[in-house]
Amino acid sequence: MTLVTRVRGRFPAIRPRRLRSSEALRNLVSETLLDTSHLVLPLFVSEKGTGPIESMPGVERHTVEGVVSKVEEAVELGVNAFLLFGIPQLKDELGSQAYHREGVVQRALRRLSEAFGEKVVLIADTCLCEYTSHGHCGVIIDGGVENDRTLELLARTAVSQAEAGATVVAPSAMMDGQVGAIRSALDEAGFESTLIMSYSAKYASAYYGPFRVAAESKPQFGDRRSYQMDPRNGREAVREVGFDVEEGADIVMVKPALPYLDVIARLKAEFPLPLAAYQVSGEYLMIKSAAALGYLDERLAVLESVYSIRRAGADIVITYFAEDIAKWLKQQS
Ligand code: PBG
Ligand code: ZN
Repeated sequence: MTLVTRVRGRFPAIRPRRLRSSEALRNLVSETLLDTSHLVLPLFVSEKGTGPIESMPGVERHTVEGVVSKVEEAVELGVNAFLLFGIPQLKDELGSQAYHREGVVQRALRRLSEAFGEKVVLIADTCLCEYTSHGHCGVIIDGGVENDRTLELLARTAVSQAEAGATVVAPSAMMDGQVGAIRSALDEAGFESTLIMSYSAKYASAYYGPFRVAAESKPQFGDRRSYQMDPRNGREAVREVGFDVEEGADIVMVKPALPYLDVIARLKAEFPLPLAAYQVSGEYLMIKSAAALGYLDERLAVLESVYSIRRAGADIVITYFAEDIAKWLKQQS
């Protein structure tokens, strides 16, 4: 900074409040834009019927038919991207419903791509934890999650999701080499146009609690710290994303979002590809619960959080509030 600007920068000549003096001015100088086109709505498709999810007030499980009407509603509001999770009737040791042709997500993908075609972006979560009896994200051998055997099953899952109509597959198991294994399998099966959005920097987080109730995917023993990242590490996220980019990821992700804004900012500066951030179930529940107690304005708290995630550098925000945000943005304009 030169001497001149420093002298000129002194009060009372300079009054930053001038820029905040009307709504129109504040909008004119706002640095962060949020549009429904940046949002992804996660959806739970269940073989066990519809109904509310007690740990996530306002979020529901849908049947295959139900998810079609849900997407229709969301599209009406301007939300066009969806992340699908499956809740199967049957769980087994190897999570076979994750890569079954008639698996619940595969059936939903077929119906949705038939009904909406290229109007929507259908993202399939590619993992095993919702489908395994033990609740871990991979194959258990000698009491631990075996990396390389898991890759094979993740690749099969991704191919079956692409076959069913997924635009994007989103590997979330945090296995080493998962992006490369999936990219090769997709290409070999003729799905070179299917995108990969990698959960590259996925932390071992307490904020997934409500989701695990929803998806019935709580590990039956141990925890996920031998594969998900340690919350103390930031540099490691750069390393993880670097590998995923080399292996062919098209979009990378940070998860959770709000406790990891520094990681989002760092990755944004470091990598020139689309960056997503996942405002997870615990982030959702914190706002919902505080708002239900009457001590937090839900709309303001949600918008502030999502603007922060965007300001930190996320291009895409995955959020259970997507439809609410779409409504609020409509009211504003
Ligand atoms: C696991 C997976 C998790 C979430 C989605 N897929 C985390 C986990 O259970 O370890 C969490 C999403 C959320 O909390 O909203 N592959
Ligand atoms: Zn998993």
